[in-house]
Amino acid sequence: MQVKALVLFAGRGSRLRPLTHTRAKAALPVAGRPIWQHVFDYLARFGFEEIGVVVSPGQPELEEAVRQWPHLRVHVIQQAEPRGIAHAVATARPFLSDEPFLLYLGDNLTDADLTPALRRFAEASPAALLTLKRVADPSAFGVASLQGERVVGVVEKPADPPSDLAVAGIYLFSPAVHAAIEGLRPSARGELEITDAIGGLIAAGQLVLGHTLTGWWQDAGSVTGLLEANARLLAALPTRIDRTAVLEEVSIEGPVQIGPRAVLRGVRLRGPLVIGADCRVVGSEIGPLTSVGDGVTLEGVRLVNSVLLPGCRLEGPALHLADSVVGAGAQVWTRAESPAALVLGDDAHLLVPPQQPQPWEVTR
Ligand code: G1P
Repeated sequence: MQVKALVLFAGRGSRLRPLTHTRAKAALPVAGRPIWQHVFDYLARFGFEEIGVVVSPGQPELEEAVRQWPHLRVHVIQQAEPRGIAHAVATARPFLSDEPFLLYLGDNLTDADLTPALRRFAEASPAALLTLKRVADPSAFGVASLQGERVVGVVEKPADPPSDLAVAGIYLFSPAVHAAIEGLRPSARGELEITDAIGGLIAAGQLVLGHTLTGWWQDAGSVTGLLEANARLLAALPTRIDRTAVLEEVSIEGPVQIGPRAVLRGVRLRGPLVIGADCRVVGSEIGPLTSVGDGVTLEGVRLVNSVLLPGCRLEGPALHLADSVVGAGAQVWTRAESPAALVLGDDAHLLVPPQQPQPWEVTR
């Protein structure tokens, strides 16, 4: 049977501000492409053909882009307010009707093989099957307790986790989940929690199975998570240098992708990395684990483990950035002997090393 998928791209994206002030979290790039495209490719890989995509209002670019994706039948569903995962499922009920479905939380990325989970769900017909992943600190996630393959308890972001099995953001549900959602009340964070609906299924004696994912899994909903997902996805990319790119005095180690019309002069590239179309890179060292969006200018820059959105401009001399995400059109310069001069967006965060001795420091 063909199972529908429901992908959740709504929500405030508060852990990724200020980037999410002006765009949906799902539109942020990792490894050279927006998160939503990685999710769609992943679902297509396991045979999903029809997907519902839940978005927040006011994201017309994302709506338009997902509708035009050629490889899947996409239904866009607006969730008027971010009132939780279970609320999003209830909002999508007309699309889901009374059929089993896969629920995919759109800020999770993985390379795990879903085939065994899909097979087990089809064989055992449980009320729900949760994908799980062993993590060092489960307290940031839903956490499951297992007996054999049966989930006997699930608790959301516990201070004292009962196991190291985080609930990864991919679930399979029978239509029984809708009744469990109807009975929910908002949690302490004011949301209808899917974890509570699963708890309701367990309490009612229904079968809930756990399946531990193999491979990597990453919640990309924070800056560190986004960079980690970027690194994971980049590691799988083959080298591809567009024939219209111009490379002069460029040394290359590891896999690199360079887009059309990019111009690179006097550059050391340390893959894995992606440089987008129409970039200009001069006298710089880029990578590893770095994604540079289209139309970016870099001069005198050393850049490691970072994601640059399109059209930004970084200029040294000796500008060294690591673990950074730079928004579209943002500009960063270094100027010797100058105090820092910042025009920072709301909720921006910078970590700046001291640039010079501090003769002005007041001592008592
Ligand atoms: C949600 C779920 C949580 C799950 C996590 C996976 O948390 O509520 O159970 O472990 O996704 O990313 P949220 O990201 O909404 O805080």
